[in-house]
Amino acid sequence: MKGISFWFFFSGVVYVTLGMAWGIEMGMRHDFQMAPAHAHLNLVGWVTMALFGVFYHLVPNAAESGLAKLHFAVATLGVWLLVPGIAMTLKSGAEGMAIAGALVTLASMLIFLLTVVRSRA
Ligand code: HEM
Repeated sequence: MKGISFWFFFSGVVYVTLGMAWGIEMGMRHDFQMAPAHAHLNLVGWVTMALFGVFYHLVPNAAESGLAKLHFAVATLGVWLLVPGIAMTLKSGAEGMAIAGALVTLASMLIFLLTVVRSRA
């Protein structure tokens, strides 16, 4: 695995490692307030990023386009805004960062939608 597919997959593994540690920490403290933020770190950060990585590994033409690099940047920004944003919403009710993260994450999926359509044989 190389190039953008490696970076998607590697990021996903980093996020799930953090997500699992966060889950263990919640369990040890018997405080599950952050469960939705933990869930999104694991599902948007690990499952989604890893699936992107597998796609780009299977479709090398898509991986080599400039759009794939933009996709990685937007998807990464999405995780970095969404997960702390959900945590902030749960802690203090401030929703701005979560909304921004949700919109950036949606933009990342729209880029991927275009990529998938363009890669049709
Ligand atoms: C070491 C691994 C993990 C530990 C210790 C862990 C721990 C936890 C804990 C303590 C909760 C809260 C349960 C409650 O509210 O009663 C939770 C919720 C959740 N976790 Fe994890 N988790 C782990 C890995 C994962 C992974 C890999 C995923 C997804 C790929 C995941 C997805 C979720 C989801 C969807 C919820 C429910 C969130 C909610 O109710 O809002 N977890 N986890």
